[in-house]
Amino acid sequence: MNLELQTLSWAQAASLQVDALIVLVSQKQNKHTGLLSTMLSQAEKSGDFNRSAGQSMLWWKPAGLKAQRLVFAATGEGRPQDVRQAVTLAVQALKKTKSAKVAICLEESHSKQLVIATQAAADAAYVYTHTKPSAKPSLISHLIIGVPDAKSSQQDFVHAKAQVSGVALAREWGNRPANHATPDLLAKAAKGLAKHASISCEVLGLKEVLRLGMGSFAAVAQASAEPLRFIVLNYKGAAASQAPVVLVGKGITFDTGGISLKPGPGMDEMKFDMCGAASVLGTFEALAHLKPKVNVVGLIPACENMPGGRALKPGDVVTSMSGQTIEILNTDAEGRLVLCDALTYAKRFKPIAVIDIATLTGACVIALGHLRSGLYATDEKLAQQLLQAGEQSLDLCWRMPLDDEYAEGLKSNFADVANVADRAAGSVTAAKFLQRFAKDFPWAHLDIAGTAWKSGAAKGATGRPVPALLAYVMMQANMSLKTSPLKSKN
Ligand code: BES
Ligand code: MN
Ligand code: ZN
Repeated sequence: MNLELQTLSWAQAASLQVDALIVLVSQKQNKHTGLLSTMLSQAEKSGDFNRSAGQSMLWWKPAGLKAQRLVFAATGEGRPQDVRQAVTLAVQALKKTKSAKVAICLEESHSKQLVIATQAAADAAYVYTHTKPSAKPSLISHLIIGVPDAKSSQQDFVHAKAQVSGVALAREWGNRPANHATPDLLAKAAKGLAKHASISCEVLGLKEVLRLGMGSFAAVAQASAEPLRFIVLNYKGAAASQAPVVLVGKGITFDTGGISLKPGPGMDEMKFDMCGAASVLGTFEALAHLKPKVNVVGLIPACENMPGGRALKPGDVVTSMSGQTIEILNTDAEGRLVLCDALTYAKRFKPIAVIDIATLTGACVIALGHLRSGLYATDEKLAQQLLQAGEQSLDLCWRMPLDDEYAEGLKSNFADVANVADRAAGSVTAAKFLQRFAKDFPWAHLDIAGTAWKSGAAKGATGRPVPALLAYVMMQANMSLKTSPLKSKN
């Protein structure tokens, strides 16, 4: 989709030649004059439209406007959530029309609002087509974001565009079925990102993984006919001497549970078990566009979790790259088994922070539902920054505990650690397992099991938490700019 930023007052919007014009209206909005303002008062007076969040009104060939269609979309008090909802509803309605060129008239040049509105429009316009030839691709091909002052919004618009492309990539790979998104295809997608000058990519296969001693990761993959891949991405935006942020994404391209087989109903959704990996790919795509002065490494252990004659069995003990042995009590707790080796691998980059992103536990869905991702962190500053990045991008997370007492149940008579404890606090005990492998750097873990995709009629990947990860990385770049010796000399 072609995105464009324009200065657009209501008066200018009235003479804008587009297939559809979306005008956001909040309760505080009264300063406008001209035709749109008159139409708004009339619609309100007639009772056909009011400004409470969620209200909208569609006009066809509105007299006096150049636009073929007009949508008033109410944002209530103008909270970012309401702006997002208003844009989503308006674009969903227009998706059913013959609109190709659409403009959205925002009330403020406020940065958060601009990014959120642009993302909501792009999300609502997205259509999955990869394995559905009968799907009509979105007609909406040109989106104009209108703000009171385009000049002051330029920077935010660049961020919005980058985020949109990153979220789109994450959604696309999340949505692709497991037979169209194998570990090798994920690796090829990562290699594809290396077309950008700032990104390089290296892919390891079984031989290299075994040579590194990643016995835990390799064990999860061992019953699958699809060869595993360990993907290493590098975004270079700063001097090589600058320590990177490392993002680790769980890349289980399909999770059957293995010998601890999952029940049948809904098992198809375990194609989404690589959404952590997809969010790393999406973040790199966005970084290539935004070019912040920071270094980022992406690590993706990618494989399938399958049952079979060669499969890992409950009771088996594997040796991780860290040297710690792990008793596999449940082969369905495979995410932590691939992540632990990737965390050990991360150490070599001497990172300022390591963030892993994983559809790790059903228990996290029970705890937090589909609104906030679970956030665990061993470092206070990292935790606060990720919480803030989430608030800023409206890609919310919630801090969860890491008390050592929670690790009690992971004790094993036959190995250094067991891969599961009992059912209580399942998301926390999974994080406690990972923490054992993340002792050498500030570490955070995002359990995105509830937020990475939607079920039911709207089944599909969300692209989360690309917005939060991007906001976090941008924060690091801006901070190092402020403290860089070059800058402080002037
Ligand atoms: N990928 C799943 C987690 C999951 C399940 C995410 C359902 C979203 C919805 C993970 O590999 C898994 O199977 N976890 C187990 C852990 C258990 C065996 C301790 C779970 O949550 O049931
Ligand atoms: Mn599992
Ligand atoms: Zn899984």
